[in-house]
Amino acid sequence: MNWQEEYNRKLSTPERAIADIHDGNCVVMGHAAAAPRRVQHALAEHCEDYNDVLIFHMTTLGENECYQPKCFGHFRHVSNFLAKNSRDVVNNHEGDFFPAYFKDVPSMIGTDIPCDVAVFQVTPPNEEGYFSLGVSCDYAHAAIRAAKTVIVETNELMPFTYGQTLIHVSQVDHIIPCAYKLQTLESAAPTEVELAIGRYCSTLVTDGCTLQLGIGAIPNAVLQALGDKNDLGIHSEMFSDGVVDLIKRGNINGSRKTLHKGKVVATFIMGSPQLYDFVNGNEMIELYPVDYTNDPIVISQNYRMISINSCLEVDLMGQVASESIGMRQYSGIGGQVDFIRGASMAREGKAIIAMPSTAAGGVISRIKPFLTQGAAVSTSRNDVDYIVTEYGAARLKGRTLKHRAEDLIRIAHPDFRPMLMEEYERRFGTLSETLKNDCPTA
Ligand code: COA
Repeated sequence: MNWQEEYNRKLSTPERAIADIHDGNCVVMGHAAAAPRRVQHALAEHCEDYNDVLIFHMTTLGENECYQPKCFGHFRHVSNFLAKNSRDVVNNHEGDFFPAYFKDVPSMIGTDIPCDVAVFQVTPPNEEGYFSLGVSCDYAHAAIRAAKTVIVETNELMPFTYGQTLIHVSQVDHIIPCAYKLQTLESAAPTEVELAIGRYCSTLVTDGCTLQLGIGAIPNAVLQALGDKNDLGIHSEMFSDGVVDLIKRGNINGSRKTLHKGKVVATFIMGSPQLYDFVNGNEMIELYPVDYTNDPIVISQNYRMISINSCLEVDLMGQVASESIGMRQYSGIGGQVDFIRGASMAREGKAIIAMPSTAAGGVISRIKPFLTQGAAVSTSRNDVDYIVTEYGAARLKGRTLKHRAEDLIRIAHPDFRPMLMEEYERRFGTLSETLKNDCPTA
């Protein structure tokens, strides 16, 4: 049978496809902008027909109809990266959080994460019967290999991407043709504080560096400060619109990359419609499975690798909490630690964690004597390298506990320096006059 015959035989509808999902099954869903929205809609419409179906997913954008209260009890959501729309559902009793490095998710699918059904959004087939996974490669191959039933929505508006994104018609069971706009990630213009952080980060970036940019407001602000750098490269878990601006201006060309020269490498992409247009059929952009992009050994092959991630708080020893505010799970670890380790192992590599010095409108210091009770340590004090705030950059790697505390006080907000100085003196004795003079307080 040629692939077109097989394709025609597998053509399906959301309703027919979800008839292959049964009570107690685990369904692994496509990630971020590749979430399968037709199937989500059909499941939500028919939620009464299901009991205790476990849905595994990672970050979600915009609306996910399966989060509606009417679906509670029918679907349980397990996720290892939370976003605005999933935080309540997963933190409350309808769901559960799954701590794991993103890079380990593919190897856990089919074992720790059972996978009865895999549902992904892909492109229509090419002339040889291959769909492209489009903007999210991450764990899709692993789920498609492990699942008993594979459902794909072939979205005409899904960009075609290169790298390792192809799956064949023969690998799937239900094909649902559709055309709908991809969900987008809104990015606000950077604040003055974020721009100042971006400028300090840019002092650590030299021509020819390869960058990883994490999630959140800071990476975008850093990119805006890199307009005077040349021959930059990208090897990242994800990227968004800021990278496109720098490619168009010629700052990013990958010409000095020591792995995947000339290519922008990631495992997923999320951003504006313009970003999705830019990556469509663009041979400069290559997406690979996350167990490849986020492997520290792979990352470390990039000479002058610089990872730039953000966090929620840091204690005076340099322990970094990036994913929970106290007991409340806020996001997930993603690739933060893997990129920090990969960058640290790379020749002339640097690992940066950048954050505003305060949160909640300036009433909370993000540099703290202790992490908030219950917070998960995302990056340990043994892995941490640079911490950057709008007051400067502190290199903690290779520094003692006393020196780390001093360096962190220097980049804390002046309002909170007296409190941190008191804590320093409780732990280590009298603070040096130099530090007191260097660190004006409010
Ligand atoms: N205490 C209380 N509230 C805090 C806080 C703290 N220590 N730190 C932050 N907040 C609040 C902020 O005030 C803000 O509240 P608002 O939404 O009401 O304004 C909210 O929490 C989000 O903080 P913000 O720093 O603006 O988040 P962000 O969108 O820039 O994302 C991370 C920052 C750390 C959550 C994000 O980078 C992340 O999830 N990192 C971990 C994963 C990672 O690094 N992956 C890398 C590979 S992609």
